[in-house]
Formats: sequence, structure tokens, C-alpha cells
Amino acid sequence: MREGVRSLEAAGVPTPRLDAELLMAEALGIDRGALFAAPEQEVSEDAAEAWAALLERRCEREPVAYILGRKGFRWIDLEVDSRVLIPRPETELLVEIALDVPRHARVHEVGVGSGAVALALKHERPDLQVSGSDAYPGALAVARRNAEVLELEVELSEARDLPAGDYDLVVANMPYIRDDEWPGLAPELGVYEPPEAFRAGADGLDAIRGLVASCPPGTRLALEHAPPQAATVRGLLSGARSRCSLGGEEYATVGVVP
Ligand SMILES: C[S@@+](CC[C@H](N)C(=O)[O-])C[C@H]1O[C@@H](n2cnc3c(N)ncnc32)[C@H](O)[C@@H]1O
Repeated sequence: MREGVRSLEAAGVPTPRLDAELLMAEALGIDRGALFAAPEQEVSEDAAEAWAALLERRCEREPVAYILGRKGFRWIDLEVDSRVLIPRPETELLVEIALDVPRHARVHEVGVGSGAVALALKHERPDLQVSGSDAYPGALAVARRNAEVLELEVELSEARDLPAGDYDLVVANMPYIRDDEWPGLAPELGVYEPPEAFRAGADGLDAIRGLVASCPPGTRLALEHAPPQAATVRGLLSGARSRCSLGGEEYATVGVVP
């Protein structure tokens, strides 16, 4: 374990100890908690080989979620691979906003990726009619697989921006990274995660503006964005209010399309 942590540190991995533990647990086929319960347990030759292979991938800066093929989000576990963005904690804000809708409301998510928001919402509010769409077939295939495995009834379709329909609320975590941020991104994002999930032009608002333009006036829209974009996003909507993540940063704005 010490050797593993050292090699991850040398590769510039930001959380070497945690990642080494997660990968060791995976190699042993146990839960991470079980590592602490029995810290002196034997590691078989097979497990040691598996651990070395996993470590090597992480040293190349492949994200842990892609190596393990899964990521937890709220109360569900999602299968993830390089066709989809790895769900982030700040995206829980979109779920929290959507949880406030009345019973049996229709909620649509644009840009489902792994399906994190739409599936977590349906899981927590089975009364809702939840649907989702993505412009990219690869992402949609991952979302469909997750819906099937989790046995959650969410209608998924391929579409750019908002597909026609009647919705009480539309939620979206569209790409919002500026072009000039791209070269400075950590390899986990810049090399491994799909660029179509991030890149959004010179000010990072191309995708958000495109989505707003595709929504009929009167559509209630909740958007994730980078904290410095909050004021501009509020300006795109009527009666807009921004919401802070647990870290106190304005990561989401909800309002009505004028
Ligand atoms: C930032 S990721 C969000 C994924 C997922 N909703 C999440 O929060 O983890 C953006 C997603 O939007 C999709 N996308 C990008 N542009 C789009 C567009 N114009 N219309 C629909 N989907 C789009 C991408 O394929 C990607 O899956």
C-alpha cells in the first residue's frame, strides 16, 4: 500500500491514499471499509497482479470511476465509462431543485450523460414523470443501461437541446467550460472525459444559450453552471435565483425562459 501511494504521488494524483485504497479494495474484491477492518490480511499473487494493473492505469491519470466502471451519486450507483461525464457532487443541486416539484409533475433532463440526475430523481420521487435526452448516442447508451439495471422508468431519447413536449420543469447540466480553460485541465478531465460534455466556447456559455433558445417561452429551467457564470445565467432567465452547493458556491440557477 505504501509503495502504491508513493507511485500515485509521483504521478501527480491529487488523492493518492484514497485512490490506492479504492483500487486495493477492488483488487481484493472487498469493500474499502473491509481494508480497515483487517489491515494485515494476506494479498494473493493474483490480487497483487490485479492491483498493479489498476495502479498503472491510475498512474496514467485515468479517473478511478472509469477504472472501477462505477460511481455513486446520491442513493444510486451508476455504471460509467469514457462516453459519459463522471457525475459530480455539485450536480446534486439540480436534483434538490427538482425534488420540490408538485406530485406527478413532468420533469425533463437535457444532456443526461450517465443518467445521474434523471435516474436519481426518479429513484427519490417515483411519482414523477421523468424523461431525459442527450445529443450523443454513446452517452444515451450508458444512460439506458443504467435505467435498465436500476429498474427505473425514465424515457430516454436522442435529441439536441430540448425535445418538443410539455414539461413542468427542465433541468440541465450542459457543457460550461471555456475554451481557454481547456489546456489547463487535469488529465483526468482533459484526456479521459468526453470533450462534448465540457466544451462550450469562448465564455463557456454557448451550450447554455443554445438550450435556452430552444425552450418555448414560459419554460421553467434549472441550469448548472460554473460559479462565476451565475450572474450571466440569471440574466438569461426571468425571476432567476441562484443556489449554492454545500461548498457555498453558486453552481445552479433556476428561472423561467422569457
Ligand atoms: C456536463 S455533461 C452532464 C452529464 C450528466 N447530466 C451529469 O450531470 O453528470 C453534459 C451532457 O450534455 C450532452 N450534450 C452536450 N451538448 C448537448 C446538446 N446541445 N443537447 C443535448 N445534449 C448535449 C453531452 O453529451 C453530455 O452527456
